[in-house]
Amino acid sequence: MIEVALFGAGRIGKIHAGNLTKQAGVRLKYVVDVHAESAQALAQLHGAAAGSVEAALADPAIKAVVIASSTDTHSDLILRAAAAGKAIFCEKPVDLTIERARACAAAVEEAGVLCMIGFQRRFDPTFSALKERILAGEIGSPEMLVVTSRDPSPPPVSYIKVSGGVFKDMLIHDFDVFRWILDDEAVSVYATGSCLVDPAIGAAGDLDSTVVTIRTRLGRLCQINTTRRAAYGYDQRFEVLGSAGMLQAGNHKPTEVVSHTAANVSEDKPENFFLERYRVAYANEIAHFFDALANGTALRTTVQDGLKALELAEAAMLSWRENRIVMLEGSRS
Ligand SMILES: NC(=O)c1ccc[n+]([C@@H]2O[C@H](COP(=O)([O-])OP(=O)(O)OC[C@H]3O[C@@H](n4cnc5c(N)ncnc54)[C@H](O)[C@@H]3O)[C@@H](O)[C@H]2O)c1
Repeated sequence: MIEVALFGAGRIGKIHAGNLTKQAGVRLKYVVDVHAESAQALAQLHGAAAGSVEAALADPAIKAVVIASSTDTHSDLILRAAAAGKAIFCEKPVDLTIERARACAAAVEEAGVLCMIGFQRRFDPTFSALKERILAGEIGSPEMLVVTSRDPSPPPVSYIKVSGGVFKDMLIHDFDVFRWILDDEAVSVYATGSCLVDPAIGAAGDLDSTVVTIRTRLGRLCQINTTRRAAYGYDQRFEVLGSAGMLQAGNHKPTEVVSHTAANVSEDKPENFFLERYRVAYANEIAHFFDALANGTALRTTVQDGLKALELAEAAMLSWRENRIVMLEGSRS
């Protein structure tokens, strides 16, 4: 039996708790949250106990921790869990600073523990089917990737202020998709952006609309466009152009019903937001983590992937601030 401690009983913590308690051979033992009532309620729902970080990490029965607490707690909890020899699943981002994220990667390596970062898009059935078809050679060699990533509406400005900015909070997923789909590393990043949705986001020093252009070591190209507001809902699409064709991955809809009337032809809007759109992906990533832990299979996303995505976010932020192309390590010039 793999006994687990969950840190964070908020939106995503509840999803992970529900998924991990469905895994055979896995038991949720502790739920830890600084908001005691949240920890208590979630623990009770799953037959676990509300506990503390100290108690969970000191308990030799705990083999793994799931870190789903606020972003500013991730690196501290990774360092402590690695030192205690626990396997780690941590939500994105690893940290808001490259230095702390590097320290986490080093600590994980030194401790020799598993550390998976929650880039759930790699586990989405549509996106992963597309990736499988690239690997099978259906479109030849991938050359260009276009990613559209649009939230339905912006979070409160109080969230924006502590989020680390749109590149680290939102595009971190798109940077991971870029690396995963093109299977290559960036040599240059150019990012531009605007505040078109809410001036309060601009006043907080952040952007709500961005476009990023990336060139890879192999000369492959990627364009990412994001916004914090799409009037028609959560829009998550990408297309990959290869030497022998193109693959597109689109949105999911709650139902496939199409209505034809005298007025129009209509269908459902995309699924509402990430909790719905990536419901299956969240379940798949947790299943993958515990499978890796139980059977020794290789993790499909690691702390190194978390670090690489953060480096791209940092480069994009610098590019936008200084209005210039940023060259990355390994580039030719
Ligand atoms: N992969 C994804 O799609 C995805 C989606 C949403 C959130 N996230 C990430 O998950 C994390 C949590 O996001 P959320 O939306 O669930 O936030 P949330 O605010 O709903 O929940 C965070 C919880 O962490 C608790 N917390 C804060 N400090 C803590 C500490 N030191 N120890 C234990 N608990 C602590 C808070 O009390 C809160 O209950 C963030 O880092 C976010 O970036 C990822």
